This record gives sequence, C-alpha cells and structure tokens, in this order.
Amino acid sequence: MNKLYNAGIIGTGSSIPDKILTNSDLEQIVDTTDEWIVSRTGIKERRIADSKVATSDLATEAAKKALEDANLKASDLDMILVATVTPDMHFPSTACLVQSNLGIEGCPAFDIEAACSGALYGLITASQFISTGVYKNILVIGAECLSKIVNWQDRNTCVLFGDGAGAFIVSRVDKGYGLLAHSMGADGNGSKLLKVEAGGSKRPASLETVEKGLHYLQMEGSEVFKFAVKIMAKASEEVIAKAKLSLDDIDFLIPHQANIRIIDASRRRLKLSKEKVYMNLMHYGNMSAASVPVALDEASRAGKIQKGDNIILVAFGGGLTWASTLLKWGK
Ligand code: UT7
Repeated sequence: MNKLYNAGIIGTGSSIPDKILTNSDLEQIVDTTDEWIVSRTGIKERRIADSKVATSDLATEAAKKALEDANLKASDLDMILVATVTPDMHFPSTACLVQSNLGIEGCPAFDIEAACSGALYGLITASQFISTGVYKNILVIGAECLSKIVNWQDRNTCVLFGDGAGAFIVSRVDKGYGLLAHSMGADGNGSKLLKVEAGGSKRPASLETVEKGLHYLQMEGSEVFKFAVKIMAKASEEVIAKAKLSLDDIDFLIPHQANIRIIDASRRRLKLSKEKVYMNLMHYGNMSAASVPVALDEASRAGKIQKGDNIILVAFGGGLTWASTLLKWGK
C-alpha cells in the first residue's frame, strides 16, 4: 500500500522506579568495584522496581504520561504495542494488561519481542499502520523489570541492567516531519549470545532449571559488544542514506544505552560530537527495550531537541536484533 500520511511521534512519557542501586551497593552483593563498573560500562547507578511492581505497572505510567503529552485520551488509541523481554507473564501479553489498566477495550494489543531493539521495532511497525491510513494513534511502549531476571550472584550481568519504561504516541504528522527512514534486521545465528534459557517450551521450568539458574539472563558480553559497535554505526548510516541526508544533517543521536564504550565507539565512527549524542546510562544502566524511549522522553522534556531537528534513534539487542529510525522532530 502506498504511503498516505507521514507518521511521527507526538507524545512521549516514561516511568522510572524510585529505588536507586548504586555501584557501591553492588560491591556489597558481588565481587565488583565502582571503578570496574564505571570504567567498563559508564554506569554509576540503576533503578530497581519494588517487588510488587510488574512491567505492566511501569508501562501503564509511561503510557499515561505520553497520552497527556500528546493531548490524547486512552480512548483515542487504535492499537497498543509493548516491547519487553520481561512481560508480567508468558501470556496474556503485557500490552493487553496495559490496555485494561488504561480502562479501554477493543483496540488490538500485542507484545513485541526484539530485546533491546523492541521499542524501535514497535515504532517502525506502528508507523506502517499510520502511514497507510489504517490507524490514527498508536501507543508504543518499551518496558522492563530486568532486575527480576538477572542473577544477583553473577557479576558479569547484574551490574549492567536496570528497570524502567518509556512510551511514544505515534500518529499522523505534517508533511516533511516524522519518520524519514527506518532500518531493522536480525541475525538469529547470534541467539545463544544473550538469552534466558529455561521457562519456555524447549526447557520448561522445573526444579532442575531453577537450581541451575537457567531462568536468569545469560550473556556473552564481549561478543555482544563487538556486534554492537559494528551495527550501531551501520544502522545509523543506513537511515541517513535512505533519507538522502548526510552526517552533517544529523542534529541528535539517541542510542541504546548499554555501555558508554559502545556509544563512544559508534559516535567516533559516525564522526559526531559528544554534544549530539544523548546518554543517561550512568543513572539507569541498560533498560533494554525501555532505554531509547526513556532517553527520547528525557531529551524532549529537557528541551534538548527542537522542532525540525533530524534525530537518529538506534538500538541493538538479543536475537540478535537491530533497528534504527531517522525522525524529523515535529513537536
Ligand atoms: O543491550 C544489549 C545487552 N548487552 C550489552 O550491550 C553488553 C555488551 N557488552 C559489554 O558491555 C561488555 O562486554 C561488558 C561490560 C559486559 C564486559 O566488559 P569487557 O570489557 O568485555 O569485559 P570482559 O567480559 O572481557 O571481562 C573482563 C574481566 C573478566 O575477568 P578475567 O576473566 O579477565 O579475569 C571478568 O570476569 O572482567 C571481569 N568482570 C568483572 N570484574 C569486576 C566481569 N564483570 C565484572 C564486574 N566486576 N562486575
């Protein structure tokens, strides 16, 4: 179907738990140091959801703020997409739970599982329905409670992640604004590098899987690192080329917030100045699917992005997956 409308983001919101876990708190839990964590990752602290708080709770709060920012009511929504690797449960989807929390029914709601690339997979999926005129307003949320699936005895992973949620309202925008280009992909051959092995149909949860800690997130960090450095720059260059722009036209890059060294290496490859790259990982760690939408919401509310700016959103994650979009900011 041909593109009838321009799709863009007309509202953003986020929800971050109050509880802060610092690097020195982690020194009491595993054999690590603040110096190691800061120098290898850039992370100083992360937020941890209360034991009674689930991903849908953070997602709902982020959604309400995004609706308010867009001047819309929940009943204006035509579809809800939630990107997460930490759904409240296997099913029903977290998107259906959010729909119920928002007090609406009827519109389609489903989850997207593309790990840290999920919110951008969601944004790109939503933009197809908007630009073809099928729907008018779509809620896209990236939400995670990673603290609930990390092994708090594994220093290789537990220092990296945090909890939070970010939301976009994707709608029709004026000509020339919104998504100018997108790119996304996956390489399933890298599926072993980042995973939660048990609890699905291949290895259903059992006493044995729990004893072996197979219900926790496992990662081969250095392999993911190498992939990330390559793909962040490549995916960014792809959207610049598709939009027929050049690097000089880019005003702001909002990358997935996994590691300061990955972001810096990508920034150098793209020859962007530090001022043009948004970073909040020092405060939140890696919030997987929530990273990019929370960063965009913060940058927007802080007035760091202006109407007419060309903004790249780019992410990589488990799967392996990647995605990027080039937006002309229209808010
Ligand atoms: O969102 C997508 C998900 N994941 C990522 O983006 C992560 C990508 N990867 C990374 O960010 C980095 O690979 C890490 C931060 C995970 C690790 O950094 P690295 O420079 O690749 O370190 P390494 O894995 O090569 O480990 C170096 C050493 C090891 O010790 P030995 O074997 O050299 O003696 C680790 O045991 O650092 C040790 N180590 C730690 N030491 C203190 C690993 N974690 C810790 C820790 N504290 N928390």
